[in-house]
Amino acid sequence: MTSPPILVAQISDLHVKRPGELAYGRVDTAAALARCIAELNRLTPRPELVVVSGDLVDTPAKEEYEHLKRLLAPLEIQVAVVPGNHDSHALVRAAFPAQPYAQATGALDLSLGIGMLDIVLVDSSVPGASHGHLEPATLGWLDATLAASATRPALLFLHHPPFLTGIAHMDRQNLGNASDLAAVLLRHPRTRLIAAGHVHRAVSTMFAGIAATTCPAPNHAVALDLGEHDPPTFKIEPPAFHAHAWFQGAGFGDLVTHLVPIGDFDGPHPFFDAHGKQL
Ligand SMILES: [Fe+2]
Repeated sequence: MTSPPILVAQISDLHVKRPGELAYGRVDTAAALARCIAELNRLTPRPELVVVSGDLVDTPAKEEYEHLKRLLAPLEIQVAVVPGNHDSHALVRAAFPAQPYAQATGALDLSLGIGMLDIVLVDSSVPGASHGHLEPATLGWLDATLAASATRPALLFLHHPPFLTGIAHMDRQNLGNASDLAAVLLRHPRTRLIAAGHVHRAVSTMFAGIAATTCPAPNHAVALDLGEHDPPTFKIEPPAFHAHAWFQGAGFGDLVTHLVPIGDFDGPHPFFDAHGKQL
């Protein structure tokens, strides 16, 4: 019999403001996160971990991280957090002192084991900038971390996607040194997924021969504008997050990503009655 998958949820781009403030004057990101956490707590079976892939807050400000921590308190699942371009290294470190970051200063990289799976988070944020970049120290740490095992599958999380999406204003601020990341990943072929955020919508592709995604946000989505000169805009689309399911199997196993809509929807309803007859 196939063993059940290891589930790792990913939420992204929370953009929490001070209490009572709206993002862009319009989006209640705190209420959106509360609905997201209620949805995570409802999941059966529970994920082993929730990864927050950056843009934890919006400005950033200390009061926003305090608000974020109050909003995260009802979450009944362990969290791992990595910064995005709206975050501050120092404020994330101060807000999450229990996170096992590999270095005491600088980039906030971490790895942890979930059963047979390694979960690796790398910090792609650049202080004061929107685009992403992996520092030499982070690339060296990632190289050593992936070299530590030749057999354990790994899932890699970072804020900035290392690939183009076709949304021009976001592609101008994606991961700048994606080829450096590809070189490390190709040296250690045990990564089964590259999971980013930043784009506030679900995208899937391949990068360095590995499945790669961006995670939707619980709040606003970057509008799907694929025109070359479209201005940056956002839309209130159905909020969602990702549930990554890793199945044990040949090689490094198989990874499936489910998109989980956030909200109260009609159902579930049975397909069949007690006699197995379709309703
Ligand atoms: Fe964001």
